[in-house]
Amino acid sequence: MNLVLLGPPGAGKGTQAKKLSDYYGIPHISTGDILRTAVSEGTALGLKAKEYMEKGLLVPDDLIMGIIGERLEKPDCRKGFVMDGFPRTINQAEGLKKLLDEKNTKLDAVVYFDVPKGELIERFTGRRVCGRCGATYHVRYNPPSRENTCDKCGSELIIRADDKKETVEKRISVYEDETKPLIQYYEKEGLLISIDGTKPIDEVFEELISLLRGEKR
Ligand code: AP5
Repeated sequence: MNLVLLGPPGAGKGTQAKKLSDYYGIPHISTGDILRTAVSEGTALGLKAKEYMEKGLLVPDDLIMGIIGERLEKPDCRKGFVMDGFPRTINQAEGLKKLLDEKNTKLDAVVYFDVPKGELIERFTGRRVCGRCGATYHVRYNPPSRENTCDKCGSELIIRADDKKETVEKRISVYEDETKPLIQYYEKEGLLISIDGTKPIDEVFEELISLLRGEKR
């Protein structure tokens, strides 16, 4: 199963990508997570990406395509993948198509998570992430069992650097300008599945699975 999850920042892509990855036994590929690791490790990629991420801007396509090209070469991708946060521009979508063509494979579906802006802001203000393993929580909608402590690895939960109000506004406007056109792009390709992302996490997942099984398409 080759999947792409599309939607505004905070729509729940990462949350559902982790669940889909477990369910289908395919890797979760998050360009955001790869970039955050590179930034925290201070690699050459991280140093280049940091200034864009801090401002809520997209990291240049050539850097992103390099990351994806390398990641798709790994053996675990032979079974498929769930991409979260990529592609984000038409140029990246074309690049992905080319990479998959070279491997004689293609996307099975692109899932678009529909969540209105007002709800996105609430999700950012309550989001907490594990500084060590990257697990994501929400103080109200998906709280950890022990306050401020990761259920998976016991580390402290932190607020993501780009979840500040000004950065969030910028990320949403960049999404509107550069990423939203992908909805139409993938609709034309006959790959788009839209889902109401405002429902509770487990309900969104149930619906997602039945849509992917073709029951509701
Ligand atoms: P990235 O990490 O990809 O961030 P994003 O796309 O902005 O998305 P988020 O991670 O903020 O949200 P999400 O949709 O995954 O929501 P989540 O599941 O966490 O990118 C960060 C930066 O990296 C970019 O700004 C850019 O600079 C750079 N970058 C990355 N990829 C790039 C690319 N391809 N090209 C160029 N630059 C790139 O959920 C949010 C919160 O809501 C959580 O607290 C969660 O618990 C909660 N929640 C989830 N679902 C629900 C629900 N159904 N109901 C209630 N709460 C929910």
